[in-house]
Amino acid sequence: MNILLFGPPGSGKGTQSALLVQGMGYKHISTGDLFRENMKNDTELGKEAKGYMNEGKLVPDSLTIAMVKDALSRLAGKSFILDGFPRNIPQAEALDGLLGHLNLNLDKAVFLEVPSDKIVARLSGRRLCKNCGAVYHIEHHMPMQKGVCESCGKGPIYQRDDDKDEAIQTRLKVYAESTAPLKDLYQSKGKLSVIDGDDEEAVVYKRIKSQLEA
Ligand code: AP5
Repeated sequence: MNILLFGPPGSGKGTQSALLVQGMGYKHISTGDLFRENMKNDTELGKEAKGYMNEGKLVPDSLTIAMVKDALSRLAGKSFILDGFPRNIPQAEALDGLLGHLNLNLDKAVFLEVPSDKIVARLSGRRLCKNCGAVYHIEHHMPMQKGVCESCGKGPIYQRDDDKDEAIQTRLKVYAESTAPLKDLYQSKGKLSVIDGDDEEAVVYKRIKSQLEA
């Protein structure tokens, strides 16, 4: 089964994707992670994406779609989770074309619903491992040994530039204008599953898993 996971910034897409990879063996394609990897490696794509990302704006569709095309063509038969793509209607249309071209199907579009008052606290408290991208939060989940990632044993643990106040507000606005309309689109295609994401991570994971197995 191939799925896309979408929802507001900070709704838990990355956290739940990591659990789904671990528990169900999916291949995870996150456009945010791919852009951050390119920024870390100082590639041309990373340099182009950096300004948009740090301000909380969308990277232009042409760059994003080309990157996803490349990732989808490397799946080698594995089921996938698309996290953070599509993010607007033109990207959703491009995705249909890419999947058709590669003879792949999208089975479900899983929407993580989290009240907006919880979102800002999740984003402003988020920390990540610079080396492997593992996700932490200052209030309820930080490495036991300060600065040392529990997933890869390295680090450092840092805060994303777009998790600062001004960029968070821009991301929420971009989400409402560009990404939220995807809910109706996937509803009309009969692929939408809405999951209550406002609970402990393990509880949310169980909800997603049971929807996928239904
Ligand atoms: P991206 O990295 O995709 O950012 P996002 O969609 O804003 O999502 P986040 O990564 O912020 O949040 P998440 O939902 O994954 O939450 P997480 O699990 O980390 O994109 C970043 C940027 O890249 C974009 O702004 C754009 O510039 C560019 N980009 C990416 N895709 C693009 C595209 N398709 N087109 C154009 N540009 C694109 O959790 C957040 C925090 O909450 C963590 O601290 C976590 O510990 C905590 N948490 C998670 N689950 C729970 C829970 N159940 N209870 C309590 N806390 C929780």
